[in-house]
Amino acid sequence: MQARGPLMIEHRLIERMISLIRVALADIQSTGRVDPLFVDDAVDFIRIYADRTHHGKEEDILFRDLDSKDLKATDRRIMNELIEEHAFGRKTTRALVEANTRYRNGDNTALSDISGNLETLVDFYPEHIEKEDNVFFPASRTYFTDEEDQAMLAEFQEFDRKMIHEKYRTVVEGLEKSG
Ligand SMILES: [Fe+2]
Ligand SMILES: [Fe+2]
Repeated sequence: MQARGPLMIEHRLIERMISLIRVALADIQSTGRVDPLFVDDAVDFIRIYADRTHHGKEEDILFRDLDSKDLKATDRRIMNELIEEHAFGRKTTRALVEANTRYRNGDNTALSDISGNLETLVDFYPEHIEKEDNVFFPASRTYFTDEEDQAMLAEFQEFDRKMIHEKYRTVVEGLEKSG
């Protein structure tokens, strides 16, 4: 498998979560309510899987290695756009968490902020993924030898191996702090 293989497989799972969020948004519109637990699950998925695990591999390994290459101006511009979009995703997720907390505390004005931020995520992710799958990943591949590509793939696997440990260390540390 090429290094972009696992990243593209991850995109497919992110798309499935985006579809679930779309359904939840329609539900919010028809009922005027939201299940804060669904928002918690969506936030956990976006933070741990889409951001830390997936964007983590893109930024810390793929973009890092690309940065040392003599990139064409268009490819460098797209890479910078992708980094900005990751940051925008984080900001939107923070706003979503904040709105969900207000909603739980009985603030009904929080509902429109929850749906607004969910809509932003639903609009932004598919375009971001499309740009990577169809434009940026194929262009990136041309800068690497087969050996370099396979070295990135191995580093991706090592990155993933550490994730489950990081996730649950964070859970324990969070509980220790609140306890
Ligand atoms: Fe990305
Ligand atoms: Fe991606």
